[in-house]
Amino acid sequence: MAEIVAAAFTSHVPAIGVALDTGHDQDDYWRPVFAGYESAKQWIAALKPDVVICVYNDHATAFDLRLIPTFALGCAPEFRPADEGWGARPVPKVVGHPELAWHIAQSLVLDEFDITIVNDMEVDHGLTVPLSLMFGKTEEWPCPVIPLAVNVVQYPPPTGNRCFNLGKAIRKAVESFPADLKVVIFGTGGMSHQLQAQRAGLINAEFDNRFLDMLETDPVAATRITHTEFLRESGSEGIELVMWLVARGALDDEVETVHRFYHVPASNTAVGHLILENASAAAAE
Ligand code: DHB
Ligand code: FE
Repeated sequence: MAEIVAAAFTSHVPAIGVALDTGHDQDDYWRPVFAGYESAKQWIAALKPDVVICVYNDHATAFDLRLIPTFALGCAPEFRPADEGWGARPVPKVVGHPELAWHIAQSLVLDEFDITIVNDMEVDHGLTVPLSLMFGKTEEWPCPVIPLAVNVVQYPPPTGNRCFNLGKAIRKAVESFPADLKVVIFGTGGMSHQLQAQRAGLINAEFDNRFLDMLETDPVAATRITHTEFLRESGSEGIELVMWLVARGALDDEVETVHRFYHVPASNTAVGHLILENASAAAAE
């Protein structure tokens, strides 16, 4: 059967992509950020997942106010990197896994989790920056990637609890896929940041680290964080963190921490990064 063996959580700051694409990743400002992902890159290169499910958010690139799916699953054979205003990032196209994606869509809908199916979608920094951080600069991504877009841009976003339960339903879907596939799920976006209005530039390291603690040891506590608390504590864009709960919901209750990293600043955003393995998968190694 297919199995989700681990989750990687990471921020998606667009300036990280620019730094990498323009050869500034070893500048004094960026070196500590990229250093925080070195062991993650080694870990995933050794793990060699067959498929990545990347839970991310679109930033008015593929979807805008005309169409706002709360959860949208990319079922296409490929997804082109989008032009976000300065041209598309010079990164490979994202190759999907239509068979697994359609299977997940069917399982979710029959499980009464009505997902939007997307067969044509461009992907922005929300998806390509996490891929770059985990896989580095490459001619092609090392495995197929299934994008799962979550609306965290236009109110109302889903609750953390709904995201966590979606993760559980995705796990059930993956485990009913007949082929032997090693799947890693990415939860992306966050951590605390606010790009607009009076509190622009807000970073809350105390909240971010508490959130990382909760993901490791008490994810259910994180599912109880309300929209208002995210807004107050982690800024208007900190709500992106609900996407981390989709990935966390797809894991066992008990997990092993492989890697944890936190760094401020990166552009306007606190960068957080965590890798969790299912305790059952770690024990089987
Ligand atoms: C920044 C962060 C984001 O999450 C984003 O989508 C755009 C910009 C920033 O820190 O500049
Ligand atoms: Fe963002």
